[in-house]
Amino acid sequence: MVAEIINGKELSSELKLNMKEKVSDLKKNKIVPHLTVILVGDNPASKSYVNGKKKACAETGISSDIIEMADSISEEKLLSTINKLNQDQSVHGILVQLPLPDHINEQHIIEAIDPKKDVDGFHPVNIGKMMTGADTFLPCTPFGIVTMLKSKDINISGQHVVIIGRSNIVGKPVGQLLLNENATVTYCHSKTEDLRSFTTNADILIVAIGKANVLTEEYLKPGAVVIDVGINRLDNGRLTGDVDFENVKNKASFITPVPKGVGPMTITMLLQNTIKAAEGLEK
Ligand code: GUN
Repeated sequence: MVAEIINGKELSSELKLNMKEKVSDLKKNKIVPHLTVILVGDNPASKSYVNGKKKACAETGISSDIIEMADSISEEKLLSTINKLNQDQSVHGILVQLPLPDHINEQHIIEAIDPKKDVDGFHPVNIGKMMTGADTFLPCTPFGIVTMLKSKDINISGQHVVIIGRSNIVGKPVGQLLLNENATVTYCHSKTEDLRSFTTNADILIVAIGKANVLTEEYLKPGAVVIDVGINRLDNGRLTGDVDFENVKNKASFITPVPKGVGPMTITMLLQNTIKAAEGLEK
């Protein structure tokens, strides 16, 4: 068996066509969807992600700006900037790129964002709504993963999903979203003993470990669906996932590549959430 590739870049392009139309409809009603991204410090990876978000906004007609702040910025100054954006009627979405410097309490920052502008879906109000299955902003990477599975008509209901990783951004929420789709969900993490005993029982395996190419075929049940959330830069400059793609691809039924997998979908779901925030004004 050679796995079918779920190409997140192609799927993103298709979804963006539909988004372009929605944005142009909003503009006819004098609403220009606008995303403000706050970037603190000069972490090269964060800069590159933020520039990717800006470019994707432009492609769909969403307006955006980036507020760059020095690494030394105080928590108070960052909070007051967020407060101003909360009040600004022309700003529909606010995203503070993570991670933040150690002296800033990330949770304080996330909770300061108006939940109606929280296009990351990280605010506790939105996380709570997601858990109950209510309509809200869904965290972008988990939302992208579910969208990728559905795009290939992959059955989720009744399937055993195993997630490696329990971050607030990916692991925890993707499990919740798939539980809402009637999956049976197992969370594994760095303290899990005998990881293989869980992963070899997975119908859908979601890998968010943060180490290059560590997931090999012996961790897989034949025919499993493999979703690779990792983005690792090798010494030679190439990007690679957490999954050893070449090693796994002959045992899986579907697999997401890196690059052109989950990464582009994360950005595309951010655009979708920004449009949703702007549409909220029409209701
Ligand atoms: N850093 C890595 N991924 C994300 C994300 O999805 N949102 C934000 N705000 N920061 C991130």
